[in-house]
Amino acid sequence: MTTQKFTFEYVSYPDSSELSPADEQLLTRARKVTENAYAPYSNFFVGAVILLANGETVQGTNQENASFPVGICAERTALSTASSLYPGVGIDTIAVSYCNKNGGKNDAPISPCGICRQTITEYENRQQKPIRIIMSGQSGKVYVLQTAKHLLPFGFTAEDME
Ligand code: THU
Repeated sequence: MTTQKFTFEYVSYPDSSELSPADEQLLTRARKVTENAYAPYSNFFVGAVILLANGETVQGTNQENASFPVGICAERTALSTASSLYPGVGIDTIAVSYCNKNGGKNDAPISPCGICRQTITEYENRQQKPIRIIMSGQSGKVYVLQTAKHLLPFGFTAEDME
């Protein structure tokens, strides 16, 4: 018997001013694009902006539905759009932010939900290259992760079906 351990490192910034100019720009856009979300049911407006390997950027927001499970998260909207507009182009980074209009906090990072973690990992496996993830609210702390795999230990992939 052996006990295994899974750990990962991420970088935590006190605010966006310490990010590289490219990362800061991406996060600023993710914060702003939350305005485009359709979130009348949760009042939780999420924005995601993707930087592609060709330098293009693609954005997405959460799109809710009166039939709640039909709604889609910002991350998956952005990923589907990126893959549809630029098939085969690598995804370098995804920045995720939100605007909580329920009177709650807006200054702490959120991380992608389980389905989005699975989805980002699928794109990583497709491109055989990690996708960086930047997470932050409208202000305050920023977390930067080097790969979606760190958010999904023991994730199920196509390899498991070989
Ligand atoms: N949501 C996202 O778009 N991304 C996340 O990472 C977390 C949750 C959306 C789904 C739903 O529309 C709202 O936020 C509240 O859960």
